[in-house]
Amino acid sequence: MRRALVSEIGDYVGQEVELAGWLFNLRSKGSIHFLQLRDGSGRIQGVAVEGECDPESFRTIGSLKMEASLRVRGTVRRDPRAPGGYELSVSGVQVVQNPAEDYPIAKKEHGIDFLLERRHLWLRSSRTGAILRVRHQAASSLRAFFNGRGFILIDTPILTGAIGESAGSLFEVPYFDLGTAYLAQTGQLYLEAACMAFGKVYNFGPTFRAEKSKTRRHLTEFWMLEAEVAWMDNEGNLKLQEQMISTLVQDVLSRCGPELDALGRDTEKLKKVSPPFPRMDYGEAVELLRKQGRPFEWGGDLGAEEETILASRFDKPLFLTNYPKKAKAFYMKENPADPRTVLCADLLAPEGYGEIIGGSQREDDHDKLLARIREEKLPESSYDWYLQLRRFGSVPHSGFGLGLERTVSWLTGIHHIREAIPFPRTIARLYP
Ligand code: 4AD
Ligand code: MG
Repeated sequence: MRRALVSEIGDYVGQEVELAGWLFNLRSKGSIHFLQLRDGSGRIQGVAVEGECDPESFRTIGSLKMEASLRVRGTVRRDPRAPGGYELSVSGVQVVQNPAEDYPIAKKEHGIDFLLERRHLWLRSSRTGAILRVRHQAASSLRAFFNGRGFILIDTPILTGAIGESAGSLFEVPYFDLGTAYLAQTGQLYLEAACMAFGKVYNFGPTFRAEKSKTRRHLTEFWMLEAEVAWMDNEGNLKLQEQMISTLVQDVLSRCGPELDALGRDTEKLKKVSPPFPRMDYGEAVELLRKQGRPFEWGGDLGAEEETILASRFDKPLFLTNYPKKAKAFYMKENPADPRTVLCADLLAPEGYGEIIGGSQREDDHDKLLARIREEKLPESSYDWYLQLRRFGSVPHSGFGLGLERTVSWLTGIHHIREAIPFPRTIARLYP
């Protein structure tokens, strides 16, 4: 007998197959059992009719608990009323393990803490399945985007000696005789070295921020895709991001229709995402916020509420450009047109999702960079290698980092970032 996957069940209409999976619901009406089965690739209903199903199997089905693991034999039937278009007429089951206890996650609504505490089981739900499938598609589209454009993948270290982004949010790890290592906040500094060797590079890996933020946008461990390109200026950086985000959104729309549908995502809003994206200068943003009655001082970083106000004026992602130097990291290039500011942009997603990308042109002038490192009181000796990049063939270069979970939150329309990663890490959660 053929072992079939639910996702390929349409190839077996009229044939008897074996499915291996789990029972996620069972309804019995007199002489019929309706078994809801999932096998990881999809979901299907099996119908076991007394007299047609093997009698011992029929009795066994009646005693099954939720999430029992099974091998189910049956004939595939086309059924336009079934959610996936097919049903299985069950001829027999072989139970692999029937739980002794009731499955803790029931059909009723559970609180978020209850579910997070059982994330190892919650992964099996259709909602989590849909979100994590979109995440998978997003990650593979992003990789394909860069691989198709001649970028070289450079895996940057997670144990680092230099502060990549800001001193305030570092995870420290004792490191043999060398003192303290930090978990990477970004791979950027290493990508800058690599772009001088390969031209166009990217990385995609976990990054860490010991941020005491309990917001719906913050994790302490999240995945970042970063790109860095030699000879590319700030303008080129924005163009590359526009292309990347538009390609990503179109890929997800065309390949994750059922998932977005299951999540109730309004896809009309996503369909509008195509280049060019609107841009707004930081100075303009401050004016605008003040006009709306928000007392905002020039020089500060924008918070989630400000980002939402600004981005909700547009139905595409918004580039917010040229932030004040003091609001941004030390490596950003001074803006020649206004040296109080830097050549940078944050990309703000619409619908209240806020910053999904941070990027900039990098300071390529050795002395200016050194002055910024000193101003920020960063330990100079850790940046010796980084400064050498400005002494041996320094060129204009730019790059950015996209937060995968924030992007997936926006694409799927979910409220909180913790659902966009398989096992979220926040200040209050390390289990499971
Ligand atoms: O803006 P950030 O801090 O930029 C950098 O780290 C640069 N070195 C990237 C680069 O230019 N190569 O972080 C980039 C993105 C943010 O826009 C956001 O999407 C995400 O990473 N991010 C977080 N996501 C979840 N939880 C957090 N605590 C995050 N902090 C940043
Ligand atoms: Mg940022």
